[in-house]
Amino acid sequence: MKAYLLTKHGSASSLKIKDIPEPLPKAGEVRVKVKRVGINYAEILSRRGQYRWAPKLPYVLGMEAYGEIDAVGEGVDRQIGEKVIAGGQFGSYAEKMVVKDYMALPSLDQFSPEENAAFIVNYMTAWVGLMKLARLQSSDSVLVNAAAGGVGTAAVQLAKAMGCKVFGTASQPEKLQLLKELGVDHPINYRELDFASVVREAQSGGGVDVVLELVGGETFRKSRDLLNPFGKIIIAGMAGLKWSKRNPLTWPTLLKNIPQAKILQMAQRSTGLLATHIGYLIEHQQVVEKEWQTLTKFVKDHNIKPVVSQVFPFAELPQAHEYIESRQSYGKVVISLD
Ligand SMILES: NC(=O)c1ccc[n+]([C@@H]2O[C@H](COP(=O)([O-])OP(=O)(O)OC[C@H]3O[C@@H](n4cnc5c(N)ncnc54)[C@H](OP(=O)(O)O)[C@@H]3O)[C@@H](O)[C@H]2O)c1
Repeated sequence: MKAYLLTKHGSASSLKIKDIPEPLPKAGEVRVKVKRVGINYAEILSRRGQYRWAPKLPYVLGMEAYGEIDAVGEGVDRQIGEKVIAGGQFGSYAEKMVVKDYMALPSLDQFSPEENAAFIVNYMTAWVGLMKLARLQSSDSVLVNAAAGGVGTAAVQLAKAMGCKVFGTASQPEKLQLLKELGVDHPINYRELDFASVVREAQSGGGVDVVLELVGGETFRKSRDLLNPFGKIIIAGMAGLKWSKRNPLTWPTLLKNIPQAKILQMAQRSTGLLATHIGYLIEHQQVVEKEWQTLTKFVKDHNIKPVVSQVFPFAELPQAHEYIESRQSYGKVVISLD
């Protein structure tokens, strides 16, 4: 089969299609014939060698896909041809991908193939962050950083569906326009305005109850300082951190910019700092099954659909990586294998 097997870390041009043997599902696993692939920022970090959760080289990149079951391992009772959303640590940049049986989740009828491929990582992350960790209430004010991205748009949609007042930051006018269309009450171009001052002004000097933080560094520090009493900041990403394993000169800046708890400040204001990583959470089958039920019911009830900004053919997957790295992309970028 054809697959993007990563043999060394590097730029998008290091992604090359190779012919490799089809993976075989072991006991408790299914194999999925991939039709669409959702691209994640974390895969760009993995490609560069900057992602802790990535497996050891060589491996096929890619954490999520939409497709249909085409083989099952021992003890698995699934229909061949069943349409599924597949999630895992690696393997989706390929014609076939093997995942655990419980991570081949039934696809959603109301979604297009592209939307199905754009769902599990972003929406599970936003769902867990906002609903399980922050325990979002309709009366909450919410700040979403990198709000026009994949996780960001998901978080905005969930928070708006809850009835919250939402602040969202992004870097470009087109992204700000998208945030307006998604119902963000205060879309903020943080390159032109200090987002903390905009929040303070709109809140008559107050802050926000919940922050979904995806950037790190100064964005994290300012967001943390905006929390109201009982407020919670959820760390779900660090897209703004620049470092290299091979360059020790970058390590002190990395350490400075990784979000850290300031216990004294938190005690003074009764605030919380929480964090999530969906990769570790999917090890817990019962958690996945329960949250999948509530999340998919919620998106159906509120008519939420993933935002897909562009679809690239499989042969142009490296260009899809470059597009995301250019920061022009919004919502999700998807690959089609048709
Ligand atoms: N915790 C989890 O389980 C989990 C799951 C999925 C993703 N994540 C993390 O969440 C973050 C967002 O992921 P995503 O898939 O939503 O990514 P995405 O769609 O590519 O959005 C990332 C956005 O971050 C913003 N950004 C701010 N500073 C940046 C910088 N220095 N370099 C690049 N981008 C910067 C950019 O928006 P502007 O140009 O508008 O600023 C960019 O478009 C990533 O750090 C990712 O690893 C975590």
